Amino acid sequence: MKRLIAPSILAANFLELGTDIELLNKSDADWIHVDVMDGRFVPNISFGMPIIKAVKTIAKKPLDVHLMIEEPGKYFNDFKAAGADILTVHYEACPHLHKDIQTIHNLGMKAGIALNPHTPLNVLEEIVPDVDLILIMSVNPGFGGQSFIKGSISKISRLRNMIDKTGSKALIEVDGGVDLNNAKILFDAGVNVLVAGSSVFGSTDPMDTITRLKKC
Ligand code: DX5
Ligand code: ZN
Repeated sequence: MKRLIAPSILAANFLELGTDIELLNKSDADWIHVDVMDGRFVPNISFGMPIIKAVKTIAKKPLDVHLMIEEPGKYFNDFKAAGADILTVHYEACPHLHKDIQTIHNLGMKAGIALNPHTPLNVLEEIVPDVDLILIMSVNPGFGGQSFIKGSISKISRLRNMIDKTGSKALIEVDGGVDLNNAKILFDAGVNVLVAGSSVFGSTDPMDTITRLKKC
C-alpha cells in the first residue's frame, strides 16, 4: 500500500519559505500540503493564491491543496492557475459535491474530500468511487499544533474497509496532530498519506523527521 508524507507548510517559516520548500524538494516528502483558510469556514485565515503561485515556481513535488473555505467552487480555476495538483474540498462546505468533484477533474487536478471530526463516513457512500482522496481531519480544522483526536484511528479503519469494498482507488489522508508517536498506528489502520506540520517544521531536523515518518 502507498505510504506518502505531505508536510504542511502552515508550520513553515514564512520569512524563509523558499528555503523550506527547497528542504522539502530534497527530502523524502512526497507532496507539499498547502492549507487555505478563509476565516469563515474555519476561525482562522492563512494564505491564498499569491503564496501558492510563488511556492509553485520552485516546488518539485505535487501541491496538495486543502481548502478550508466556503463556496470553494468559486475559486477552482484560480487554484488550478496558481499551481494546485490535488484539490481537496470539505464535505461540509459543498452542497453540490459531485459537481465540484467533476469540475476539479475537468480542470486536470486530482480531487479530494475532507471530513471534519464529527462528520460520519456514511456521507461518502455515493461519492467514494469518484474521488482520488479522502482526507480525515484528526483535529478540528483551522490551526496547526493541536492534539490528535484518538477516535480518528477507528474512523480510518472503517474507511479503509469501505474503500476496499467498493474497489475505489481513493487514497486515505490524515491531517492534524500527526507525529512520530502515532504515524505507525495510522499507517497500520490504512492511511496512505500522512500530513504533518508542527512535528516536521517544529523538529530540530525536519529532513530526518520526514524520513522517519515515512519508515514508521
Ligand atoms: C489544520 C490543517 C493542518 C495543519 C496540521 O486545520 O488542515 O494541515 O497544518 O498541522 P499539525 O500537523 O501541526 O497538526
Ligand atoms: Zn490541512
